[in-house]
Amino acid sequence: MPAVRVCARSRAHSRACLDCPKSQAVKPSQPPVHEIVARDDFSDATYLLEVRHPQMARAARPGQFVIVMAHERGERIPLTLADFDRAKGTITLVIQAVGKTTREMQQSCKVGTRLHALVGPMGIPTHLSKAKKVLCVGGGLGVAPVFPQARAYKEAGAYVVGVLGFRSWDLVFWKGKFESACDELVLCTNDGSAGIRGFVTDGINLALKKHPDLEEVVAIGPPVMMKACAQATRARGIRTMVSVNPIMVDGTGMCGGCRVQVGGKVKFACVDGPDFDGHQVDFDDLMARLARYKPQEQAALERWLDTCKAIQRTPEAALELPDPFEEVRGG
Ligand code: FAD
Ligand code: FES
Ligand code: MG
Repeated sequence: MPAVRVCARSRAHSRACLDCPKSQAVKPSQPPVHEIVARDDFSDATYLLEVRHPQMARAARPGQFVIVMAHERGERIPLTLADFDRAKGTITLVIQAVGKTTREMQQSCKVGTRLHALVGPMGIPTHLSKAKKVLCVGGGLGVAPVFPQARAYKEAGAYVVGVLGFRSWDLVFWKGKFESACDELVLCTNDGSAGIRGFVTDGINLALKKHPDLEEVVAIGPPVMMKACAQATRARGIRTMVSVNPIMVDGTGMCGGCRVQVGGKVKFACVDGPDFDGHQVDFDDLMARLARYKPQEQAALERWLDTCKAIQRTPEAALELPDPFEEVRGG
C-alpha cells in the first residue's frame, strides 16, 4: 500500500494534511511486527526483551547490534545483540532505562506486544582471534553484550576467563549463563556484597596474576570502564578489544554521528566497528561526544514525563498523540 501522509494532531487523513508541517508519511494499515516473546526485569532500570525474528537470529554474529524503533513515532536507538537463538528464531536485547526512549520502552514493551521496527544485524562481527586464553570483561550493562563473545571464544576452543562487575549483588544478572560459557569466573561488586570487593580492573589484575599467558582481553561497559581496562593491560601489551557506543543515527555510515578517534584516525563505529583496539581509542573524545546533547535529551524526557502525567490525570488525553517531530528536536 502506498504511504499516505497523516496529520498526527488530528489523525484525520485529508489532502490538507499534505501541507501540514506536523504531518508525516506512514502506512496506517501496516501492523507493527517483531513480537516480544519474553521479558525479564533484572532490576528497576535493566530489562531483557527476547524478540521473535528468525531471519535476524540466523544472521546474527557476536559483536553486532540492531537499531530499534519501539513505535512508529519512536526514536531509533542502537542496541547490542546480547544473545540469539537460531533454533527458536529469537534475538535478545538487554536494555538500561536511562532516558526518554529506554524508559518509554520499559513501560510499553510487554510480552505479546511488538516492536515497530528492527534493523540489523549491523556492525562488523567480532573478529575471533586465534588466542588460546581470553579474558572477557563486562561491567554493568556491558555484561550482556560481552556474553556472545565469551561463548564464541569458548566454542572456538579457547580457555575463557570471565570478569563481571556490578555495583552490588542486587544488580547481578546472567551469572549462571557466564558460568556455563567460561572456564573461570570472577564476580566483582563495588560494595563487596557479591564476589570480590572492587572494580572490574581488580578482577583483571587478579586474572593477569593467575594467568600470565592471557593473550587477549575483550572489555565492554561504560567508556570510563573500558578506558580503565585498556590502561590495565597496556603495560603488558595484551590486545584489548572494546565495543564503543557513540551516538548513532542512521547506523549505515552516512550521517557521521558515530565518529570516534582510533589511533589518531576518524572511524565510524557503525560501519568500522563497534569493536576497536582499546589501546587506540580516544575515550575522552568519546565521552565528550556522548554528553553533547544532554540538555535536549533531558528536555525530551521531561516532555514525555509530562505527557505521562497528563494521561494519568485525564484518560482522554491519551487520544492527543505526542508531537511526532519531538525526536528530531529532542534527541
Ligand atoms: P537519552 O536521554 O536520549 O540519552 C541518554 C544517553 O544515551 C545520552 O546522553 C547518550 O550518551 C546516549 N544516547 C542517546 N541517544 C543515543 C543514540 N542514538 N545512540 C547511542 N547512544 C545514544 N544501551 C542499552 O541499554 N543496551 C544495549 O545493548 C546498548 N547497545 C548499544 C550498542 C551500540 C552500538 C550503541 C552505539 C549504543 C548502545 N546502547 C545500548 C546505548 C543506547 O542506544 C542508549 O542508551 C539509548 O539510545 C538512550 O536513549 P534514551 O532516549 O533512553 O536516552
Ligand atoms: Fe551515522 Fe554511524 S550512525 S555514520
Ligand atoms: Mg533519546
